[in-house]
Parts: sequence; structure tokens; C-alpha cells
Amino acid sequence: MAKGKTATHRPILICWALWVVACGSSCQKGSNTPTSEVRKPAASDSIFVPPDTSTIPRNATGDMIRYGRELLVNFPYYLGPKGTVGKYGGNGLGCQNCHLEAGTRPYGLNYFSAHARYPQYRAREGRILTLAERVNNCIERPLNGRPMPLDSKEMVAMVTYMQWLGKNVPVGGNVPGDKLKDIALLDRPADPVRGRVVYEKHCIRCHGDDGQGVLKEDGIAYVYPPLWGKLSYQPGSSMHRLIKSAQFIKYNMPNDIARWDKPVLTDEEAFDVAAYVNDDKLHERPQPNLDTEYPVLKEKPVDYYWPPYADGFAPDQHKYGPFKPIIDWRKKNGHPTGY
Ligand code: HEC
Ligand code: HEC
Repeated sequence: MAKGKTATHRPILICWALWVVACGSSCQKGSNTPTSEVRKPAASDSIFVPPDTSTIPRNATGDMIRYGRELLVNFPYYLGPKGTVGKYGGNGLGCQNCHLEAGTRPYGLNYFSAHARYPQYRAREGRILTLAERVNNCIERPLNGRPMPLDSKEMVAMVTYMQWLGKNVPVGGNVPGDKLKDIALLDRPADPVRGRVVYEKHCIRCHGDDGQGVLKEDGIAYVYPPLWGKLSYQPGSSMHRLIKSAQFIKYNMPNDIARWDKPVLTDEEAFDVAAYVNDDKLHERPQPNLDTEYPVLKEKPVDYYWPPYADGFAPDQHKYGPFKPIIDWRKKNGHPTGY
């Protein structure tokens, strides 16, 4: 797909046409008629290409898009504990530490389809959330902070950038390369002891022996973010869930060499190191009250570590796996199987 060239006029049609051309006969089935149905991207689909920043318009909307992007790239400077515009983040983490490259890296927790899929029912709150409320979730959990006013200029700017980034994404839809890439689940529990070995080989050179990363000289943001400890993300954050964490790590870390199409770790290594990083017996984290999460108990994701559960599996199995037996039981009993 030509970079940023697609479609200011008929984005959906042109995107569909390009997918069909790009993936040849292998994924033609059902994909040659445009439809508003949510379509699960096949592995052979070409990755979504977001618009180029040089095409951000030179007008008031464009100014907001640029400001939103700047906030998402440099959040701690504007809105962290030492923020010049407001103090909302509770630690030095910034959005870009997880939503890589201003939220544009394929399978790197990008924002490609975020705007297209909100407002959305969220099981954690048991109600519909807007995209701005979802942003506040990340400010409260991984950033251990307090929610921003939903109508603040800064919140509106961040959401406007996300809207611009996903302007060629069908409403309600997903695109190839968005969010995180699937990973094969293990048939055994993930093992933090083996994970420590992986950590020493592949992670320590940046995130450090103590997992505390490296702060920039200005003391405001990180060169390498911390992976655990009081200054890291809370339990209950999505990054603390084993499957999501393993998916992120496998296709993005080590940050300098791994990408979705050239991962460095095996599935087993990714799960084991994710178990080591997130192990609550080995590593402390800020301790929020998680008792009010998931008001409909059976909607708790299979890899959510905080009990109780509606499925009767032990908390340790929800932490380390194996997850297939939980998923099978839930399927059989009509419970949601999400992770
Ligand atoms: C420690 C990592 C981390 C940090 C830091 C972080 N997030 Fe997130 N964020 C996640 C994960 C993990 C998800 C869940 C993605 C999923 O469900 O697949 C998520 C989800 C989101 C979503 C929903 C995306 C979608 O497509 O559904 C938005 C929007 C978002 N984050 C915005 C932000 C913003 C803005 C910041 C900074 C203020 C931020 N996040 C900081 C890890 C992080
Ligand atoms: C070359 C240095 C480097 C190596 C090696 C590396 N990372 Fe990272 N990691 C980073 C950087 C830099 C970021 C933040 C990205 C950004 O800000 O652009 C990051 C972000 C992360 C995050 C999300 C942010 C957070 O604070 O939780 C996790 C989780 C993570 N790395 C885990 C790992 C694991 C596990 C390994 C080993 C398999 C690893 N990393 C190896 C540089 C590295």
C-alpha cells in the first residue's frame, strides 16, 4: 500500500480494493464486496498504513491533531507529576512507552482503530465508555494517576489525533496490524524462573537488573521505562495481564530489534518473561482496590489475576495459565472467553 496515499475520498472502498490486490487469491473469499461488517483481518492481509504527519491540515483542526500527538509522545512533560500543563499522571511513564511510536507501530499497541471502536461496552466497568474515558483508564492504571477532565483541551487534542490517525478505518472495524498480535497459548503454566533467564539474556541491558529502567537526565521521562516497582504500572492494567503482556513483548521487545514480522523471542520465552515481569510475589507494584472491577463476574478476562472468578479455576491458573482449559470450560458453559 502506497504510504499515506490512500483515499481522502472513498477511504473504505479503496482500502478494501488494496487489501484484495495485496493479498491475492489466498484471502479473496468474502473480501471483494465492501461491507460495514467488522472483519477479522487474516494473517496475509497487508498492514494498515496510517496517514503521514505531513498531511495534517494547516488549520485549527490540524493544530489540535499536532498538539494531541505531542501530548501522546511527551506526556510526562505536559501532564505527568512534574507536568507544565497539568498534573494527572502519577509516575514518569508516558503513553508512548507502551503505545509505541506515537501509537503507529503495527501490533505495538497502536491507536489505528481506537477511535472507530468507541464508545464501547467495557466489562471492567460494566458500562459503555467513550474513548476519552478509556484514555483516563490508562492515566489511572498504568500511569497510577487521576482522571483528566473529559472536555479539557488536552483530552480533546489526544482524541482528535486518534481520530485523524484512524480516519481511513471503517467505523466499528479493525484493521490488519492494529492493537496486539495473537500468540499461541502454552499447554503449561508460564514459568517466572525460566522467565528470569530470558530477562537476563534479552531485557537486562536496557530495563536493568532491578527492572527500574533508566530515567532521562531531566528526571521527568524514561529512556527505558521501569517494568515493575512502585513507579511502574498497577496490577489490573492491561499490561499486567499475562497474555496481553506476552503478546506485546513477543512482537516488540527487545525494542531495538524485534518487530511483529521479526520477533526475537519464542512464544514460550515471551510467556515466561511476562510471568517473571508481572509476578506479584517477586515484584511489588502500586496496590489499587480491584474489588469493584468487573461487576459481571463471568466477564472477567481469563488472564485477570485478581479473584474471585465465576469459573472455579484457581487464581494461580488465571495468573500463569494454562489458559486453554479455562477457555474450553467457559465456551462449554456459555461464559465470555476474552483476554
Ligand atoms: C504500561 C503500558 C501502558 C501505558 C503507559 C499506557 N497504556 Fe494505554 N493501553 C495499554 C494496554 C495494554 C491497552 C489494552 C490494549 C488491548 O486491549 O489490546 C491499552 C489501551 C488503551 C486505549 C484503547 C485502545 C484500543 O484500541 O482499544 C487507549 C485509547 C489508550 N490505551 C490510551 C493511552 C494513553 C492516552 C496513555 C497515556 C496517557 C496510555 N494509554 C498509557 C497500555 C498502556
Ligand atoms: C534496546 C533496549 C530494550 C531492550 C533490550 C528491551 N526493551 Fe522493553 N522497552 C524499551 C523501550 C525504549 C521502551 C519504551 C518505548 C518507547 O518509549 O518508545 C520499552 C518498553 C517496554 C515495555 C512497556 C513499558 C513498561 O514500562 O512496561 C515492556 C513491558 C517491556 N519493554 C518489556 C521488555 C522485555 C520483557 C524485554 C526483554 C525481552 C525488553 N523489554 C527488552 C527498550 C528495551
